[in-house]
Amino acid sequence: MDLTRRPRRLRGDGVRSLVSETEVAASDLIAPVFVDATTDERVPIETMPGHERVPLEEAADRVEEIMETGVEAVIVFGIPESKDAEGSRAWADDGVVQDAVREITSETDAYVITDVCLCEYTDHGHCGVLEPGAETDPRLTVQNDLTLDLLGKTAVSHAEAGADMVAPSGMMDGMVGTIRESLDGAGYTDVPIMSYAAKYESSFYGPFRDAADGAPSFGDRRHYQMDPANRREAMREVELDVEQGADVLMVKPALPYLDIVADLRETFDHPIAAYNVSGEYAMLHAAADKGWLNLEEVAYESLLSIKRAGADLILTYFAEDIAERL
Ligand code: PBG
Repeated sequence: MDLTRRPRRLRGDGVRSLVSETEVAASDLIAPVFVDATTDERVPIETMPGHERVPLEEAADRVEEIMETGVEAVIVFGIPESKDAEGSRAWADDGVVQDAVREITSETDAYVITDVCLCEYTDHGHCGVLEPGAETDPRLTVQNDLTLDLLGKTAVSHAEAGADMVAPSGMMDGMVGTIRESLDGAGYTDVPIMSYAAKYESSFYGPFRDAADGAPSFGDRRHYQMDPANRREAMREVELDVEQGADVLMVKPALPYLDIVADLRETFDHPIAAYNVSGEYAMLHAAADKGWLNLEEVAYESLLSIKRAGADLILTYFAEDIAERL
């Protein structure tokens, strides 16, 4: 046995931090914010302890609170006052996200990202326009190409309101290219696109669907979001977004998909984002509530692991708690 090589030498206090390979910084984190047009007071989100839906009047206050922890970027989700078949409140000039972005950008210095999707705005909860008969025929779901126009309009309306970056999450083919063309056509050539490039059809989104009221009223999203079984397909899927002009590439969820984060890091030189989703947050809280895990420790370890796998930025409901600890 050769004991001349002893990795433990570099684990002593004093040297550990010198040889540490990975760091989480508050400037890597993006905090989700839920703005709800149907309420005039803050409503706690039961499945996501510590998070709330806030009324429009409190959107800027909510972002101020986040910024006090050291986090500088937010992603805004909207709960509209009404829904319809096409999701027309998604691109309304006086829509909830548009109004919230105007408030936030006029009152804070936060970097404001908007989620571009239709599922919170359609009365059926799918991420686009339905194919005729989809309610009753499980083989049918969303019409891809008709949905693209609506996503383009939505992204432009967010940029007009002052969004710094848009993040399309609907997993429609061609969504990045369409949005890039629409933004450029409207003069927003400097607004970057963070694509939810490899977004899986995951059961870890459960608590979010409560938070943003966007659960499909029938069926599921397997016809547009990726099959959790597929790793190689992610490279093909992401390559398309790169060709269409995506500036930042996101993997979602994060922890169960760290192989995908690592693959993207190897393959592309773009910034890689990972979305530490609602279910990843809720399960740690549930276990901590029972006294089975130390919440702060497992939250930090989760974010550290996501960075170690290759993510540059992390969207996480732990953003404020972790930033405060750093
Ligand atoms: C779609 C969207 C979803 C999430 C972010 N954007 C929901 C979905 O695809 O079902 C999930 C985020 C989370 O679970 O934290 N607009």
